[in-house]
Amino acid sequence: MKTMYNPRKVVIVGAGAVGSTFAYALAQKSLADEIALIDVNREYAEGQVLDLAHGLPYYPSVEIYVGKKEDYATAHVIVITAGAKQAPGESRLDLFQKNSRMIEALIDDIVSQNSQAIIVVASNPVDVLTHVALKRSGWPKNRVIGSGTVLDSARFRYLLSQHCNVDVGNVHAYILGEHGDSEFAAWSMTHVGGVPIDEYCPMCDGCDDWVKQREEIVSQVRESAYHIINYKGATYFAIGMALTRIVGTILQDQRSVLTVSTLLEGEYGINDVCLGIPCVVGKNGVHKVIEANLTPDEKKLLQKSAATLEGALKELYGEITVD
Ligand SMILES: NC(=O)c1ccc[n+]([C@@H]2O[C@H](COP(=O)([O-])OP(=O)(O)OC[C@H]3O[C@@H](n4cnc5c(N)ncnc54)[C@H](O)[C@@H]3O)[C@@H](O)[C@H]2O)c1
Repeated sequence: MKTMYNPRKVVIVGAGAVGSTFAYALAQKSLADEIALIDVNREYAEGQVLDLAHGLPYYPSVEIYVGKKEDYATAHVIVITAGAKQAPGESRLDLFQKNSRMIEALIDDIVSQNSQAIIVVASNPVDVLTHVALKRSGWPKNRVIGSGTVLDSARFRYLLSQHCNVDVGNVHAYILGEHGDSEFAAWSMTHVGGVPIDEYCPMCDGCDDWVKQREEIVSQVRESAYHIINYKGATYFAIGMALTRIVGTILQDQRSVLTVSTLLEGEYGINDVCLGIPCVVGKNGVHKVIEANLTPDEKKLLQKSAATLEGALKELYGEITVD
């Protein structure tokens, strides 16, 4: 039987700092055969593609080109990084009015192409825009996800590894909820080398007041985007790596547990909100939402985060219609 070659194709919408950095990281991982970059500013996309393509002798084999909406039809994964970004002092939720209309128009284009792709939303506020994208598409919830708190969890793991002076690969830790100010650390799920953090940390060199230090670590995670934006105007390297991890997991059907943003339908007592929660991610997007045994305080924090997002969605849907 003749086998059709089915290139692994990723379409990136938005060729700005996040989109181009993600393309750069993805191209080096040998995960995709084709990367198409789409931007409302076509010349800008042309420039980014040329700059990326000139590195092709040093990448694994991959084709990088300026895409058009017809590319959605054959994409395996579509990653949305388009839109306005946070200005200094602006919260991610402040962005939702600006970016939600743009997401609706993009989703209409994607649906019009009969795409079978998995959509990964990275534009902020990511949880609100994932909800808008999901409802607008009419697709099953597993196929429309957001980058959620994957980046925040990476920041958390990095800071814990620095604190404990241990390989970040041996730190299992998750930030849950909104990718934003109401996110929180799920300490009950935090382990170093299989040992719960509260047992491991007293063994750390120089850790004298763990309770105080753990609060400082969470504040650093929550505030890191604000600090980076104040220093250099935008964050893009780590989110580029986080998106590569999410998309790689989908393309390779890796079934990795990642805190992507997904629609909750009763899990943790939450309904009709997308937020970052540990999920098994593979070729169909979200295969399973993991219902972890959170402490009562953590459950309350998750519900508070969901309430924040619910408020933003109510405000938004009061203004625009989602069919
Ligand atoms: N999820 C995360 O963890 C995370 C992390 C960092 C940034 N972000 C978000 O990613 C988004 C992009 O950030 P950035 O720094 O790359 O911004 P940027 O301004 O550098 O790039 C945005 C690009 O989107 C393009 N664009 C705007 N409207 C478009 C449309 N309708 N179709 C196609 N392209 C369009 C612009 O021309 C621009 O090139 C922002 O919303 C930002 O807040 C998310």
